[in-house]
Amino acid sequence: MNFGLLHHTETAFPDAIEKGLAFLRNNDLNNLENGRHDIDGDRLFANVMTLTTLPASEKQGELHHDYIDIQFLISGEERIDVCLAESGCRPATDYDAENDFALLETMPGASSLLLSPGMFAIFYPHQPHKPGCAVTSPSEVKKVVVKVHKDLL
Ligand code: CU
Repeated sequence: MNFGLLHHTETAFPDAIEKGLAFLRNNDLNNLENGRHDIDGDRLFANVMTLTTLPASEKQGELHHDYIDIQFLISGEERIDVCLAESGCRPATDYDAENDFALLETMPGASSLLLSPGMFAIFYPHQPHKPGCAVTSPSEVKKVVVKVHKDLL
């Protein structure tokens, strides 16, 4: 997992992740339409969405096998919980290979990331994460999830 500010990152990420970050830097995100935006076909694309956050207790965690998530907040405030892959999460669903996710019922020992606009968090395959949680009370956020296929790393 990485946690950072889009415009102040000193870290050099692998090229595919840098491409995803460049998409975020080079687009007028406030005016980007919700939905999918291809960067490199099915291997690298961005999902732009508007959603209402919910208390973490009402959300399920998720993990992916094939794609890295770059979760980026455009507006609002968002909490994303994260825990170790080894922490023994109880699955809520079997892994859905077509859509590349499994939902998690529990995330033992989770920590919370608090995102303000301009912050991103990167989750690698098999790292449990629970996005879309409210920081204080439910509110609307606009965000982007850039999906990077692991074969690009
Ligand atoms: Cu995810």
